[in-house]
Amino acid sequence: YHIKTYGCQMNYSDSERIMTVLELAGYQKTLLEDEADLIVINMCSVRKSAVDRIAGNFKKYKQYKKINPNLKIVLTGCVLESDRERFEKLFDLVVDIKKIEQLCCYCEGVATTEAIPKLQFNESNNGIASLLTVARNDSSNYFQIKPFYQSSFSAYVPIMTGCNNFCSYCVVPYTRGREKSRPVEEIIGEITELVDNKYKEIILLGQNVNSYESGIRNYELGIRKCDFPKLLKLINNISGDFWIRFLTSHPKDMTEELIKTVSECKKVTPYFHLALQSGDDEILKKMNRKYTAEHFLNLVKLIRKHIPDATITTDIIVGFPAETEKQFQKTAAVMREAKFDMVYINKYSSRVGTASCKMKDDVNWEEKKRREKVLTEILKETALENNQKYVGKVVEVLVEKIDGDFIYGKTRSFKNVGVKNQESRIKNGEFIKVKIIKAKVWNLEGEIVKKKKDKPSSLS
Ligand code: SAH
Ligand code: SF4
Ligand code: F3S
Repeated sequence: YHIKTYGCQMNYSDSERIMTVLELAGYQKTLLEDEADLIVINMCSVRKSAVDRIAGNFKKYKQYKKINPNLKIVLTGCVLESDRERFEKLFDLVVDIKKIEQLCCYCEGVATTEAIPKLQFNESNNGIASLLTVARNDSSNYFQIKPFYQSSFSAYVPIMTGCNNFCSYCVVPYTRGREKSRPVEEIIGEITELVDNKYKEIILLGQNVNSYESGIRNYELGIRKCDFPKLLKLINNISGDFWIRFLTSHPKDMTEELIKTVSECKKVTPYFHLALQSGDDEILKKMNRKYTAEHFLNLVKLIRKHIPDATITTDIIVGFPAETEKQFQKTAAVMREAKFDMVYINKYSSRVGTASCKMKDDVNWEEKKRREKVLTEILKETALENNQKYVGKVVEVLVEKIDGDFIYGKTRSFKNVGVKNQESRIKNGEFIKVKIIKAKVWNLEGEIVKKKKDKPSSLS
């Protein structure tokens, strides 16, 4: 099998569950798509261009099918209802990600979801079989399928799925449905196992982690309802040497309590992804974001007050319908003031079925590109300015990749660091201490101090 994953981290995490199902069905992974008997496309519908690309790729798949008549092509992930019919004609199967085990039945040629516990496991997939929780008693919770983690030291752990916010431009509430939080016990169980298996970085995922809410059965903990700050504290209490990250936070639900929790919990890293989208209040209102630019900037101030060395990243949309130059300049001004470390700038894409698709997409492509460029220039300045504060400091780095003479990794604050490899014993997934010697726009450069033992420095 070969999986093509588009979109956000949530889709990458889902692909790890798709892999479990396929391995269970006896398939083996190949990195070459023209070699596969089964291609699974895990799609994203946020931008129209991505959807068109998937449809456009179909010609290539048709070629593959001519060469390999056994080839099946399956579509899953975030699919809009309005695209479903068209895709059902193109692909062999379009399957809902929440019912991904159906893929297993499909592969086996069995037309019932009952097939999973009944599958006959042969020697080659016996180990994988244990990855699947014995019985999926809650069939709506596909998170009970254990992921086939693609990294041995960093893991995505979804804590919720769906979205209730209905920002006027966004398809996510339509593709992923309403918010659903995963039970606390299930999350703690997954993370405890990961940490036992020496995972060093746990990345909690949700479209809006701040609205996490779940009942908790263990009354000994003294909590009946568990919100996101409480969940972070519980995860922080799991013993072991690991980092906790989370994405993404909605500015309307971000609280001082959460910021304080991040600053108090040693394992939770000083990193916030807080999507601004626009710096103009009128546009924010049209986007149905439910906060003002002032509120956003106050949050940034609050984060910096409690956690001075925090990394703050954001998402921005340029060229929302009828966005004037003056309104765009307000976004630029907020960007200058917030001094982001990274900004994912998106050119507005009108999406069928969303509220804003009724508004005229009247900022032309060239103008959207120009606005994107202006914002990128501001970002380059603020990112470099922030990075320069690291020069001379000793920071902890989680090693992610070793490429010849170079080691690449990230700081607790999610900064990319490149280090000359002086010690051949260093491995991926290890914490090392690095002295930063140079700051660039997109990364830092440093040299190894010594193996990490105890205290991290203040700018860690
Ligand atoms: N839940 C996240 C966003 C998920 S979608 C949050 O609110 O922070 C990821 C990003 O895609 C959004 O933040 C937005 O900037 C961008 N995006 C969503 N819909 C878009 C559209 N129609 N056109 C352009 N960018 C869009
Ligand atoms: Fe989309 Fe808004 Fe939900 Fe984020 S909060 S997923 S932008 S609707
Ligand atoms: Fe795309 Fe779905 Fe993520 S639409 S951005 S893959 S939630």
